[in-house]
Amino acid sequence: MIRTILTYPNPELKKKSAPVTVITDSIRELVQDMAESMYAAPGVGLAAPQLGIHQRVIIIDISGKNEPPDLIVAINPKIVHAEGDAYEEEGCLSVPDYAANVKRRARVTVKALDLEGAERTWQAEDLLAIAFQHEIDHLDGILFVDHLSTLKRELFQRKARKAAEERR
Ligand code: NI
Repeated sequence: MIRTILTYPNPELKKKSAPVTVITDSIRELVQDMAESMYAAPGVGLAAPQLGIHQRVIIIDISGKNEPPDLIVAINPKIVHAEGDAYEEEGCLSVPDYAANVKRRARVTVKALDLEGAERTWQAEDLLAIAFQHEIDHLDGILFVDHLSTLKRELFQRKARKAAEERR
């Protein structure tokens, strides 16, 4: 089922998510809904809190338009190693119509459980490394705009307030 993706400044996006203790049918259903919602948007990643569910579950699919889908499901993901610096443009389904460059690590090693409860390790670089960092941030209530300089963030907030007023 495609669910509504919450958008800035919804306070649900600022909450910290709890670790998944048991992979139940409701977690499997959540992942299914997350995937449908992400592909419909379309986007390259989604975290459970973006649907208002505060569980540590993220999905990522950075496959290209003409490639078969390659869905990564990461439950309780943790960055266990990070190196190098990246500064690439990011967007977010929860921050529509806005993109900005964000300082990240260039390469990360991520450990997580898959849907079967098996431990998986990803050595990620480039877009995948950034996607992992972006999605894991969501689990801690952090949006990419929180990484911007004060000046840039104020410009973003002004733009967001204006857009909200125009919608009213
Ligand atoms: Ni996002």
